[in-house]
Formats: sequence, C-alpha cells, structure tokens
Amino acid sequence: MDKILVRGGRPLKGTIPISGAKNATLPILAASLLTTGHVHLSNVPHLRDVTTMLELLGQHGSAITIDEKLGVEIDNARVNNFTAPYDLVATMRASILVMGPLLARYGQTDISLPGGCAIGSRPVNLHIQGLRAMGADIELGGGYIRARAKRLVGTRFTFDPVTVTGTENLLMAATLAKGQTILENAAREPEVVDLAQCLIAMGAKIQGAGTSTIVIDGVDSLQGCHHAIIPDRIETATFMVAAVLTQGDVLLTNACASTLYAPIDKLKDMGAIIDELDNQSIRVRSNGNIRAIDLETSPFPGFPTDLQAQMLVLISLSQGTGIVTETVFENRFMHVSELQRMGADIRIRGNTAHVRGCSKLIGAPVMATDLRASASLVLAGLAAEGETLISRVYHIDRGYERIEEKLRALDADIQRVSG
Ligand code: UD1
Repeated sequence: MDKILVRGGRPLKGTIPISGAKNATLPILAASLLTTGHVHLSNVPHLRDVTTMLELLGQHGSAITIDEKLGVEIDNARVNNFTAPYDLVATMRASILVMGPLLARYGQTDISLPGGCAIGSRPVNLHIQGLRAMGADIELGGGYIRARAKRLVGTRFTFDPVTVTGTENLLMAATLAKGQTILENAAREPEVVDLAQCLIAMGAKIQGAGTSTIVIDGVDSLQGCHHAIIPDRIETATFMVAAVLTQGDVLLTNACASTLYAPIDKLKDMGAIIDELDNQSIRVRSNGNIRAIDLETSPFPGFPTDLQAQMLVLISLSQGTGIVTETVFENRFMHVSELQRMGADIRIRGNTAHVRGCSKLIGAPVMATDLRASASLVLAGLAAEGETLISRVYHIDRGYERIEEKLRALDADIQRVSG
C-alpha cells in the first residue's frame, strides 16, 4: 500500500491551480440521474470518491464518457438498475446521494445503509424522514434502505441538525415532485448552491439556495445541461495553511475566496498575509510569526469541520495557546494522537482540543485515519524537522488531487513510495 514520505523544513513557493470541488461534484453526478438528457460537467477533479460515484452510476446503467480536456459526459437514457450495493456505499458514504434522484425519477431504490465511520456515527435519519414526508414508502432491513414512491409530493421539511448531503438529497428529489417543497434550516454550503445552479440549468425551479430556506417547485421532467464545478474550498484552504506553516509564498489560481471568509479571517488573525488578487487568485504569505487562536467548527458560513485538522497543526506551531472546539462531528480528533507523536502539545477534553504552541515538530512514522486527518499529517510533515512517513494514504486520494505533485511544484520534498 502506498505511503507518502515528506522531508520537512522547506518554504513552499510558487503557483498552484485549485481543482474542482469534490463535495460539489458528488451530488451533481448523482443529480444527472434526474434526466435522460446528456449532462456535461467540466472542472471535475480526479479523485477516488469521484471514481466511486462514476462506478455507482455505471452500475445503475449510466453511459459515461471521460475526456481529459472536455470533462465528463453522462448519458442516463438506459438506467435500469436501482440498487446501490454495500461494497460501493461502504467505501463512500456520499453514495447515499443517489437515493433522492432515483426515487424521484424511477420511483424505486435499494441503498445499502452507510456503516460506521471514523469520524462518528453519521446517521442518515433526516434523508429518510424527509423523503417519507414527501410520500415515499421506506423500509429498513438486511442492511438496506428500501424506498418506493409513485410520484413524490411537495412538503415542508425542517432539518435538525442542518445536514449538507441531507439537504442535497431532498433538494434533488423535490425538483421532480408534485407541487412545492420548502426546506427549512437547509445547509448553506457553496456546494449546495453549485448543485442548485446545475439543477436550475437542467430546468428545475429553485429559489433560496445559499440561504436556510430553499423553495422548490416541482416540474414534470428535467433536461441535460453543461455545468462547470466550483473550485474546492477545502483544498484551497489546505494549501493556504501549508503556505503559512512553512513560511512560504504561494499563489492559488482557479480559487474562490468568497467561499472561504471564515478560514481567511482566522488565518489573518494568526498573522498570515492574504491578498485576493482578482476573482480567481489568492496569494498567501507568512511573516514567520504565527499567533495562537481559538476556533469552533460550525456549518457554513462558520468555520468548516473539514479544515479543523489542518488548523490544529498550525496552532500547534504557534506562539501561545488555543482551544479548538469541534461541534459538527463526534470523534473527529483521531489525528491528534499522531500529531502528539510528532511532538505537538494537544490535550483532548470531550469535543475540545487544548493546544499549547511548540517551536517545532519532529518527523515520525504516522498513520492516516480519514481524509482530512491525512491532509493534516502531510502538513505537519512539511513543517517538521526530519522525515515523516504517512501510511494509509488512500484516504488522501479520496479528496485531494495529486497532492504530492502539487506540493512538489511548490518545492516541497515529498514523494509517494510503495510498499
Ligand atoms: C458533508 C461533507 C463532509 C463535511 C460535512 C460537514 C459531502 C459529500 N460531505 O458530509 O465533507 O465534513 O458535510 O460539513 O458533502 N446528521 C444527522 N442526521 C442525518 C444527517 C446528518 O444527525 O440524517 C448529523 C451528522 O451526524 C453530523 C451533522 O448532522 O453531526 C452534519 O453532518 P452532514 O452535514 O450530514 O455531513 P455529510 O453531509 O455527511
């Protein structure tokens, strides 16, 4: 199994293009099931999760054409299988996103229940409750969700707590429902807005995406469309943290600062120099002094939980002490024990991490536990003295496109080694 070897201590310098957003691509690929027209997507990132979703679509009967330059085209004229099997759902929870579209378009789906997950129990009860409120008949048994419906009907549904993929599943289902659906306490993430924009291009009637109330007026059918995926804000911010950590100077292109105000404000509070050069480029530098801060994760527009692990590394190398509170997921501090092995001074109490800044981290063999945790270990390795060997890096390939190549282009000493 591949590992990543990092020799730390080199300031990152140069320009890096940001890839398309994983968390926008996955629901938009699922949304293609709502139409028999051709859906053409550009700026699709090369990621393992995207391959898994394409595999799932292929299993349903989608014909998929991938062109390095032109993007991905999906033709769903021959969809004939409505099951999302255990082996695919087990590798990627976001497979649940096909539930709403299959039910709305074909009236049936059998989806394996997503199992446990390294970052908490992560239930899908709200996806199920919401679809039931739209008239679906849903039974659980044998590890599967069995959902049937004649035609879904519009409803008013309130999410508690707010859920990103839950909002996306209901949003997609509601586009073909009879009548109006009102989603309250909906997720406001930029990826939800990107999905809504793609659905609107397919002919859906949606208002309020990006606010906590989304109103959808169901239509009888949707057509094909062209859509360009938004830049990945988590990848962008991960490279921003890398630039600050290594006292570098990095230009991020094809990026979107307006989706990143909470992380940008926090990084500026820590002493980073961040300039939005135009609508698509962000320059990040550090003056060498990193100040400690406190931060609390929360749904958008709050600080993203998907950046908590990366920021923990930065606070570990700051001057002072900081408290990081994780409010979105239980058990999302699995990276801490590995960072401690590299010399980080972090103590966990419940859902808070108390961090005392230290002057250096020391390279060590470490193990990735989930996608964002593995990114934090790469960052720690870039800043550490000596060699860091990260195992289980398949996690990182789920959500970061060619991370070691991109970092090498910024002059990092990083390579993938097999075995
Ligand atoms: C999405 C993102 C993930 C990100 C997360 C939070 C995708 C593919 N993944 O995951 O990268 O970390 O948002 O920003 O977009 N919950 C329930 N019942 C439900 C659904 C969720 O109680 O039916 C709870 C969860 O346990 C969690 C909270 O809601 O505590 C938020 O989770 P949710 O927004 O659903 O995360 P995902 O959509 O799975």
